[in-house]
Amino acid sequence: MPESRCMQGIWSSPWLFILAASGSAVGLGNIWKFPYMVGENGGGAFLFVYLLCLLLVGLPVLIAEVALGRSVRSNPIDTINDLHERHIVTKGWVFVPYLAGLAGFLILSFYSVIAGWALAFFERSLKGVFKGVTKDETQGIFSTLVGTPTEMLAWHSVFVLLVILCVGQSVTRGLAMLVKILLPVLIVMLFGLSIYSSIVGDFDKTVSFLFSWNWNQITPDVVLAAVGHAFFSLSIGMGGMFAYAAYMSKHMSIARACTIVVGVDTLVAILAGLVVLPLVFSLNIDVDTGPSLTFVSLPVAFGRLPGGLFVGAIFFLLLILAALTSAISMLELFVSWLHERFYVSRLKAAFGLGVGVWLLGFISLLSLNEWKDIHIFGFIIFDFLDKFTSLILLPMIALLLSVLVALRIPRNMLENELITRNPKHFKWWYNVLKFCSIPIMVVITVGGWIGV
Ligand code: TRP
Repeated sequence: MPESRCMQGIWSSPWLFILAASGSAVGLGNIWKFPYMVGENGGGAFLFVYLLCLLLVGLPVLIAEVALGRSVRSNPIDTINDLHERHIVTKGWVFVPYLAGLAGFLILSFYSVIAGWALAFFERSLKGVFKGVTKDETQGIFSTLVGTPTEMLAWHSVFVLLVILCVGQSVTRGLAMLVKILLPVLIVMLFGLSIYSSIVGDFDKTVSFLFSWNWNQITPDVVLAAVGHAFFSLSIGMGGMFAYAAYMSKHMSIARACTIVVGVDTLVAILAGLVVLPLVFSLNIDVDTGPSLTFVSLPVAFGRLPGGLFVGAIFFLLLILAALTSAISMLELFVSWLHERFYVSRLKAAFGLGVGVWLLGFISLLSLNEWKDIHIFGFIIFDFLDKFTSLILLPMIALLLSVLVALRIPRNMLENELITRNPKHFKWWYNVLKFCSIPIMVVITVGGWIGV
């Protein structure tokens, strides 16, 4: 166990872990991805399955990941190596955390391209470009951006550089402090915007779209999309959350901390849906438009709102910061491992990985324009990376992690970690993980391989 990590690292207040974990969870996934995923997958049907997935799979797996991280207090790679040396797991398990690091790396490559869109829209808000714009104009602004690789590359580079500089510093206090201010402001702002949207937009249609469904809308594709998004949105996959858990105080209840993180993440996603969808319906934008949905609909509202240009600039700034606190957690696994194992400075490790992320991101942003004819399994590279990570890699890693925790790790080791006051809660969690989450994930993982 690395001495320095424990001594400097333990979050001095229980809230600091919750803040860092929420910072990882709340990001582009909530504000950019959730509204268009709901739109693409039939509204209420998706929301219903998504909420169910959070409860039956997301939360139990998150608790498993955090419990494992806190019990060993080391980075995931050394943790599994250590379990292997103690003959608790076989050699094959040692590869799982590398897969997790790879997932973070792959996700960050396209995530930073989208964060680049937010940077570009931030700049345009400051310049007043959105004043009085129509839907067609914002669509034009968005397509021009996506069709201009040089501009996207510039913003993508800025974002990757920011991530390198942040991960290069130590992960602890600064991040939690940022999230402490960021999250409440973001939530209040989304709340205010959702009220505005409900007044100027089509609120009735949004409510019936979001909160009613037909059973026959719940298709395997919808379920797969919902589970994949639950993992994505909660940052599950053994990377960042595991690493943050290693810094968590022993006295904190893991179940409570994780429940709060899931609650905050879901609140932000639903608020984002309530902001974006009423505008989409009133502007007659196709609800299944896909990734451009948030970027096309919101600026129209900002352009009309009194003081909206300022509100828009603040909104995109918050979105960039939320993306940054998530992006940091994607690189944390490999950076902390390189630092602790090979004594590479954090900055050097972050820089090396950042260059790889930058290159892969460059390729995926080219696939949106110059290279849009290159397809992998029928998808452009950008979509392929998104689908491959959310629908295959994350569910697979989460499954392996859950099997490890539920079936390999000695029960008493977990009990020590998890039983704080109420042993019943432990039993509940253990049984749900074993008999509900794992079977669901087996089906999903197999389905993901077949479906993609
Ligand atoms: N949860 C983040 C979001 O919603 C994305 C994210 C951060 C993530 N870390 C991750 C996704 C690790 C998968 C794995 O934007």
